[in-house]
Amino acid sequence: MGFFQNKTIWITGASSGIGEALAYKFSAGGANLVLSSRRTAELERVRSGCANPERVKVLPLDLVDTASLQDRTAAAIAAFGAIDIMVHNGGISQRSLAIDTGLEIHRQVMELDYFSYVALTNHLLPHFVQKRSGHFVVMSSVMGKLGTPMRSSYAAAKHALHGYFDCLRAETAAQNIQVTVLTPGYIRTNISLNAITGDGSKLGVVGENIGHGLAPEKAAEQILRVIEAGKFETYIGKFGMEKIGLWMSRFFPGFVMRRAPRLAPK
Ligand SMILES: NC(=O)c1ccc[n+]([C@@H]2O[C@H](COP(=O)([O-])OP(=O)(O)OC[C@H]3O[C@@H](n4cnc5c(N)ncnc54)[C@H](OP(=O)(O)O)[C@@H]3O)[C@@H](O)[C@H]2O)c1
Repeated sequence: MGFFQNKTIWITGASSGIGEALAYKFSAGGANLVLSSRRTAELERVRSGCANPERVKVLPLDLVDTASLQDRTAAAIAAFGAIDIMVHNGGISQRSLAIDTGLEIHRQVMELDYFSYVALTNHLLPHFVQKRSGHFVVMSSVMGKLGTPMRSSYAAAKHALHGYFDCLRAETAAQNIQVTVLTPGYIRTNISLNAITGDGSKLGVVGENIGHGLAPEKAAEQILRVIEAGKFETYIGKFGMEKIGLWMSRFFPGFVMRRAPRLAPK
């Protein structure tokens, strides 16, 4: 029996990109799924593409509507009686210089990419504690570990995830609760199309790096292996500049910081 057989997995941001690809892989592995994001029709499309659509519950939600997340969590648990793995994945990127980015934009990105993850975790954690098991899988980014131009809000939110989830891992290890933080490089999704700019509009462009990024299906395969191995924190993506940059920033941070001004997104 495969590792994901009969596990129940709740994925946010399941209507597109990495979340969608994960849904197909988990379902093929025999998991029950709860799929969440704002667009119900897109979630239904993903459900019908799953290997076992009868074992997929579509649960629409808006992550920034934090007042609704307690009810949504109760509904997610009720769908199959328990949640085994929560994949915190829904999110938005940002592309603007700090000088052009008002506080409102920073708050918007922080609400979605950081506070919504904390809110859902607060609601789900008592369930994991009660059953003495559970696994949080958290979608950070290479930008959660270093900083380059045009991404100040996004990098700040992703860095915050590491602080929160590293503490949570330390607090809950004795209760058999696992935390895996993923730091993907470029993955070929709609992330840059949907990225918010300094005036609040969408970037609406597929960046060159994203366009040449790893296919989301391949990223999903890597992610399944990492979850099964119970890793604490792992890079997902091609062996490219992002992976080298991550490694360099750990051992030679000054070297990366000196070159960072030239690393504006393409
Ligand atoms: N692609 C990359 O290169 C890359 C690299 C590093 C990290 N990541 C991270 O990977 C995660 C997934 O992104 P992706 O690349 O798959 O991009 P994507 O294709 O744009 O998917 C984003 C997902 O987030 C959902 N979402 C956005 N706002 C939401 C809200 N307010 N409430 C609920 N769901 C919301 C979207 O669904 P709806 O529109 O239906 O709500 C969609 O399913 C993000 O956390 C991103 O930061 C991506």
